[in-house]
Amino acid sequence: MNDHKPRILFVDDDLNILDAFRNLLRRNRKEWDLVFAADGAAALETLEREPCDIIVTDMRMPGMDGPELLERIRDRWPGTGRVVLSGHAETEAMVRAAAASHQFLAKPCSAEQLRQVLTEMLALQTHWTSNVRRWISSTGGLPAAPSVYLELVRVSASEKSSTADLARVVERDPALASNVLRLVNSPYFGARHPTHSLRDAVVRLGNEVVKAVALSSSLAEGKQVAIGNFSLEGLQRESFLVASVAQRVVKPSLREVAFCVGIVHEIGRLVFATHATSQFSMVLTQLKGRQAYQVEREVLGVTHGEVGAYLLSLWGLPRSICEAVQFHDTPREAPEPNEVLTAIHFADAIVHEPDAPHLDQTYLLRAGVTAALPAWLATVAQHRAEHPELWAPMLQRAS
Ligand SMILES: [Fe+2]
Ligand SMILES: [Fe+2]
Repeated sequence: MNDHKPRILFVDDDLNILDAFRNLLRRNRKEWDLVFAADGAAALETLEREPCDIIVTDMRMPGMDGPELLERIRDRWPGTGRVVLSGHAETEAMVRAAAASHQFLAKPCSAEQLRQVLTEMLALQTHWTSNVRRWISSTGGLPAAPSVYLELVRVSASEKSSTADLARVVERDPALASNVLRLVNSPYFGARHPTHSLRDAVVRLGNEVVKAVALSSSLAEGKQVAIGNFSLEGLQRESFLVASVAQRVVKPSLREVAFCVGIVHEIGRLVFATHATSQFSMVLTQLKGRQAYQVEREVLGVTHGEVGAYLLSLWGLPRSICEAVQFHDTPREAPEPNEVLTAIHFADAIVHEPDAPHLDQTYLLRAGVTAALPAWLATVAQHRAEHPELWAPMLQRAS
């Protein structure tokens, strides 16, 4: 893997733009192999000759357009990182492209932005993921980022956008709108006064949390998975509870991130449940008191933490979030301790088994939080006493 020179393909019918990419990435030419194609057909021919690690494509092109090209690439080379470059007024095409792309770059983009997106995607592809990639190619590809999520990212990235703009995006997706309102008014979030205004909900939850809800709810939307006592709804309930506990044990500046990670930390299980149902049910039947990640390694060769983190990184979420998701069950495998990971590991262990949590003591010691544990446990006890209705399902399942 180390000798492999990453290959990146740029597709645009505007030759000036291809030239611009060539110039922007001039100083990366030694480490990256940059290839260019002026239309979809030429791009596919290039890939047939030699597959690429990443493709960056324009949306509007004569003949095959960006979304169609990405769909074909998704089906034929599922491991390829797929980035869409788009101007602002292309909402309708964005929705189509979202189904087949991992990341989105707005035109014009700076050399820095471009380099950062490419570097992170490549790091991900060469790093810890060979087992994840093997699993992905065996299942025929991972879900693309939900279009409403991409739209939220696009809107919140613009300096001119306001909360009202974000609320309008949420409003267009009824399932997301109801999830956002449900969450902001729920005891998970702990707000005192109910609200029916989406704008108010977006302010209270924060942009990042709204995006996390968009990710988790659109993946599960409309899907029914019933295996033993596993349900998607139960998974969501559990994730909200983990978010709720995690945000109570971190310092105030990390509350929003901790809440987000809580919401998405089981996204890998969501992928297993919806995209690899038979493997997933095999895992569930073989659990017999063992921890899920151990059985997943035996049955699938990857854990839900790894698949979830990989997916979130492909979709462009920050490394701090992805790392906490990746290692939430196995924090001792993390390169180094970090506060959000610690909070999520703690919250997750407590929520899964409220009375006998599997805490990774080696890690907690390394993270220097053993002295804080009694206070954290007291916080949880208080939360349980205040909201027995949230904890009852966890206790039933554990017994
Ligand atoms: Fe988990
Ligand atoms: Fe969990």
